[in-house]
Amino acid sequence: MRVLSGIQPSGKLHLGNYLGAMRQHIELQDGHEGFYFIANYHSLTTVQNSDTLRKWTLDVALDYLAMGLDPERVALFRQSDIPEVVELAWLLATVTGKGLLERATSYKDKIAKGLSPSMGLFCYPILMAADILIYRSDLVPVGKDQVQHVEMTQDMAGYFNTTFGREVFKRPEPKLNEALIVPGVDGQKMSKSYGNAIDLFDTPQRTRKRIMSIKTDSTPVEAPKNTETCNVFSLYKLMATHDEITALDERYRAGGMGYGEAKELLVQVVERTLGPARERREKLAADPDYVEDILVAGAAKARNVAREVMADARDACGIIVMKDSHR
Ligand code: TRP
Repeated sequence: MRVLSGIQPSGKLHLGNYLGAMRQHIELQDGHEGFYFIANYHSLTTVQNSDTLRKWTLDVALDYLAMGLDPERVALFRQSDIPEVVELAWLLATVTGKGLLERATSYKDKIAKGLSPSMGLFCYPILMAADILIYRSDLVPVGKDQVQHVEMTQDMAGYFNTTFGREVFKRPEPKLNEALIVPGVDGQKMSKSYGNAIDLFDTPQRTRKRIMSIKTDSTPVEAPKNTETCNVFSLYKLMATHDEITALDERYRAGGMGYGEAKELLVQVVERTLGPARERREKLAADPDYVEDILVAGAAKARNVAREVMADARDACGIIVMKDSHR
């Protein structure tokens, strides 16, 4: 089973990004062949500053490696190192109706938010389909907002295969990330745009301060507390072991514990994951050649597959390229 996902470089990641998507990506490296790429061409539809895009592209690699992505098991690479993807996007565009793209809710949402309706933004699902189909991916772990794009990919694979009478593309299946609700410090869904996020890579002091600022209700120390409505408990549940959760659950019910103490326990479990990751990230950031080597090796692996599938796709539709073009 080949698992593939693309991650858009979008700047600083927070705990919600990790618990909502990244953790699952990393867990899937057990028992699957993983292809993970940094979707820098996709980001170009929204990030239009060269220094920013370059920095954020590297940040994705550092963040994933620091959080535990194993480059021995997973091919981690930049989308832009596989030029065949962009080439395939064109072939898919020729068999895809404009109507299909017009139904994309993600496009409509972005326009509603004020992004300018560029052709890049409009054709985003075609490029994403090319990403998925070119590696003959079986499973595509994505968030809820991206499931429609994977379904459109299935459609595009079908259009191409029937138009040219050949099963060039394999049908991929979306794998919906567990729809976790990760509260931010104010209790709303954690989101960069709400300013309520707990960043993944911050100093231990600032992370602690952030956790101490989580909003709680005014239940007095002696009184029993509600685990269902408490933001501190919700986050603890997402990070702690089963036994730790049971223990804290009992203390909530018993009363006699203040929220300050619960927050200290949360700081400990968060630090258990983020502490070692912070150290790994610092080491990686100090050794850009090593990170580049990982990306180059990942791209080599991915490109072997992409070349083969692209040759088949060209052949199926009668596109000729010169023999020694190394494509
Ligand atoms: N659109 C995805 C997102 O915003 C990123 C992405 C690009 C992707 N290409 C992909 C995800 C291919 C899965 C497969 O999250």
